[in-house]
Amino acid sequence: MSLTQSKVELKKYLMHINGEWTGKDLDQLEVTNPANGRAVGTVPNGGEAEANEAIEAAHEAFQTWSQLTVYERGGYLKKLHQSILNHEEELAQIMTAEMGKPIKESRGEVGYSATFIEWYAEEGKRIYGETIPSHVGNKRMQVWKKPVGVVAAITPWNFPLAMLARKMGPALAAGCTIVIKPSSESPLSAVKLVELCEEVGFPKGVINLVTGSSSKIGKAIMENDKVRKITFTGSTEVGKTLIKQSADQVKRLSMELGGHAPLIVLDDANVDTAVKGALDSKFRNTGQTCVCANRIYVQSGIHDEFVEKFAAAVKKLKVGNGADDTIEVGPLINQSGLEKVVHHVDDALAKGAKLEAGGERISLDGGTFYAPTVISNVDPEMIVMQEETFGPVAPIQKIESIEEAVALANDTPYGLAAYVFTESVAKGTKLIEQLNFGIVGWNDGLPSAAQAPFGGMKESGIGKEGGHEGLEAYLESQYVAIGLD
Ligand code: SIN
Repeated sequence: MSLTQSKVELKKYLMHINGEWTGKDLDQLEVTNPANGRAVGTVPNGGEAEANEAIEAAHEAFQTWSQLTVYERGGYLKKLHQSILNHEEELAQIMTAEMGKPIKESRGEVGYSATFIEWYAEEGKRIYGETIPSHVGNKRMQVWKKPVGVVAAITPWNFPLAMLARKMGPALAAGCTIVIKPSSESPLSAVKLVELCEEVGFPKGVINLVTGSSSKIGKAIMENDKVRKITFTGSTEVGKTLIKQSADQVKRLSMELGGHAPLIVLDDANVDTAVKGALDSKFRNTGQTCVCANRIYVQSGIHDEFVEKFAAAVKKLKVGNGADDTIEVGPLINQSGLEKVVHHVDDALAKGAKLEAGGERISLDGGTFYAPTVISNVDPEMIVMQEETFGPVAPIQKIESIEEAVALANDTPYGLAAYVFTESVAKGTKLIEQLNFGIVGWNDGLPSAAQAPFGGMKESGIGKEGGHEGLEAYLESQYVAIGLD
């Protein structure tokens, strides 16, 4: 077997509803590897009927799952955590085959996913509620915590395992049951994860998975009043539709939406730290994360040195089929993802940007590859500085001052992540205080972690995932006033 041949066998994957594997008689959707266009598996093309069945099963299971102690629920999650680690290689191979992520990153994502399950297995034990001092002697005042109910988790293709784990861990720890709708581009990792959930013995109906038509499954989720919460990671456009549709039943929402992250390098930055941070943030998952640096602002005193060192490092990145252990940048998820990248670079070059590295498609085995690209001399009029590119393109604009950096960085409807590189505590603190972004990496290109809140301001989302806020998102507060007379 050559290094770049996928180790994943073509397989018919199924949906999981009420403890049964189902959907083999439905039409099947093919999942293809973007590195070469070859089929890696199929999933059933489910719709409203299957989604409603899954919701009923989750509703039924909620009656008992929510009554277990947090220690019992945590016990299931701990077993799942171990099982994910035991299946690291298999999960990583599936992920790379279905969406192209370099295998080293897929292995990293499996570990990252496991941390969410482990952390919430423990954090569930700290669902405390509150006692509030009463203003009168014959009353006691308390806040009790209750799980919100059945949760629909709609997950994206770019982190097919981690984004599911980040939702599933806190939802299950809180006592909710779940209906999963994975992206049709990369549903296989989610199916494999649900297989592991079954193996470790989660009761039937607690975890259900429906594959297929987003619009039909989405309709059932929105119209069925047994679904009390939607947790979604994806584009701001789809998020806005879900927010509107959820209004009729006032469903609870967690929305992790688009980003347009600025990365700011000040004159006093350690240039090697800044180059490493920019590489980590920009080229992770081939530039296809919501928190990828999308526009780089470098102060004039360090600009030329940064551009030279960064472009030199980018030219060394190895592009190809992610199944090869040495690959650092894989394919774009599909043809339209590739065309968007081409359009952004062409537009910038036509408007006067300077190409420092890359700037071209790479023909390789029929895959959707684009060379890791650096362009300098960009300005805010270029599309690449206005929209999320979601690809391996780093546009660099020279700036003079912190004030200019703040004005440019905040001039967007998005507010997910930002990055700041400076050795000065005073400058960094003042700069970050003015940035309207939910996550900031200061001399750090990879800030995400299970125990920290992840989520955006403005049109980048509602609520946080990760950390204690990620658990709160699956709980209702019930205020109880107790009269003692
Ligand atoms: C995302 O791109 O949505 C997730 C990235 C992360 O968890 O760091």
